[in-house]
Amino acid sequence: MGSHFRVSATLLFLLITLLSSSAQAFSEEESSLPELSLRVSTSFSIALANLQNQINYTFKRFGLLRRAMTHSSYSEENNKALSVLGESVIQTSVALQSIRKDVDISAKDLNLAIAEAAKVEGSCNADGIRLGLQNVVRVASKTNATAPAVVCGAFRALFGAIAIDSGSSDVAGEVYGKTRSGVWSVVTL
Ligand SMILES: *[C@@H]1O[C@H](CO)[C@@H](O)[C@H](O)[C@H]1NC(C)=O
Ligand SMILES: *[C@@H]1O[C@H](CO)[C@@H](O)[C@H](O)[C@H]1NC(C)=O
Repeated sequence: MGSHFRVSATLLFLLITLLSSSAQAFSEEESSLPELSLRVSTSFSIALANLQNQINYTFKRFGLLRRAMTHSSYSEENNKALSVLGESVIQTSVALQSIRKDVDISAKDLNLAIAEAAKVEGSCNADGIRLGLQNVVRVASKTNATAPAVVCGAFRALFGAIAIDSGSSDVAGEVYGKTRSGVWSVVTL
């Protein structure tokens, strides 16, 4: 009986503590909001860190990677310009690789190779999906993060960001070449 009472008293005490702290939580709704956004930004940071490992490039300015993975629907500070730069990095990298492999490649074949790598519905999207960018890129709640334009934009922006971060489009092109090395070797066969 005695231990029964102690258990009930303990339960009652816990219940009161719980109720009063949840009442406090309600009254402190405002201060609980930054905590929420901190949690969200932390999981974003973890996703970015994983992405760095995947591509084996560590950003000196982490903010550039954050921006590269931010769609224009989400923020004014977005990846649009980095994406334009990234597209040209990718095209240059493909041209270098193709001519290194075959210096006699025709202009037509070279243009085809470049167009294929740059196509939003083609390898640009496939490569971005392979890296899992659809799970990393920040978009507005109504925007589909799996849409090819979003994935491809983030994929291009990644290499634009590396070019700015490293101060070299060659470094960015190299990272691009390595992330595609599986694809390159298939193409060579
Ligand atoms: C990752 O990069 C480092 C230095 O940039 C290099 O030494 C290492 O071999 C790379 N690892 C892979 C798996 O490419
Ligand atoms: C998002 O886009 C993907 C790829 O285009 C599509 O398969 C999917 O159905 C879309 N999802 C929604 C909810 O529209």
